[in-house]
Amino acid sequence: MPVRETYKRVWIKDEGFYGRMLNRHQAMWKFLKAVVAMTNAGGNQRIFEVGGGSGGVSEWTTGGYTNVERNVGMVDLGREKYPKAQFILDDFVHMDTRLHAGKNWNTFLAGSVVEHCAGYQAFILRALDVDPNLAIIVFFRGLLWPEDRIVRMVSPDAVYFENHYSGRSMAAWLEGVGLHYEFFTVKHDQSDWINDVVLVIDVHKEKTVEFWNEIDSLGYTRRGYGEWARENWEAKRLQIRQDHTERGVAAQLAARDIGRQE
Ligand SMILES: C[S@@+](CC[C@H](N)C(=O)[O-])C[C@H]1O[C@@H](n2cnc3c(N)ncnc32)[C@H](O)[C@@H]1O
Repeated sequence: MPVRETYKRVWIKDEGFYGRMLNRHQAMWKFLKAVVAMTNAGGNQRIFEVGGGSGGVSEWTTGGYTNVERNVGMVDLGREKYPKAQFILDDFVHMDTRLHAGKNWNTFLAGSVVEHCAGYQAFILRALDVDPNLAIIVFFRGLLWPEDRIVRMVSPDAVYFENHYSGRSMAAWLEGVGLHYEFFTVKHDQSDWINDVVLVIDVHKEKTVEFWNEIDSLGYTRRGYGEWARENWEAKRLQIRQDHTERGVAAQLAARDIGRQE
């Protein structure tokens, strides 16, 4: 597996970081909220979130909210802020996720979490364990990478991962597992080259064409079943990278790289 190492000066220490994330991804959060609302539970959705920080998503529902979060600071803050919500301090990829099945979850939500985990396969299989109607998994920075690779971020205080995943290989894997899914591309608010990608899995395979069309009507770009697997993502990625380089932003990013092993 290719490994890329990148240096980051800042480390996530405060809730402000998450606040800024929400700001930078406003279009995506609008989209997520609308999709969650489409479960027709009328504000009483039961939401199971992973990596939900201090649990702001609990404000969307009165039907029950659980957040599995491995950052102790965020969990402490969330317990204070949202006493009715359930916070579980744990690592989702290493817990026994079967414990949470059978609790009528309308939605499983994980926004920009899976990049920090070792591979998406184990993460998605654990999301299926929870047995929601819909699993919504956001890939921050999209899935335009030609292949999966480990991205190790080094900062003065810590080491963490922001792995890159390839939409093409992911689509092949999802189809191999036999999942009923769609990808949606949501334009990033503050960048004209990064798109967030939202994977929506219809876990119980009961959604109708009308359901997916309703999501389309929110005005985002759908990539249909397997479409991702067929498209020439390598050409598209190179084009995007070239546009990006022309504006000099990539050069700045490259200057911060401290090493690369392919
Ligand atoms: C980039 S932040 C995203 C926060 C929020 N979901 C959002 O979209 O603004 C990633 C969050 O996921 C949490 N996280 C990462 N891997 C996790 C895991 N394996 N289990 C539980 N939480 C995890 C981190 O602690 C962090 O709060």
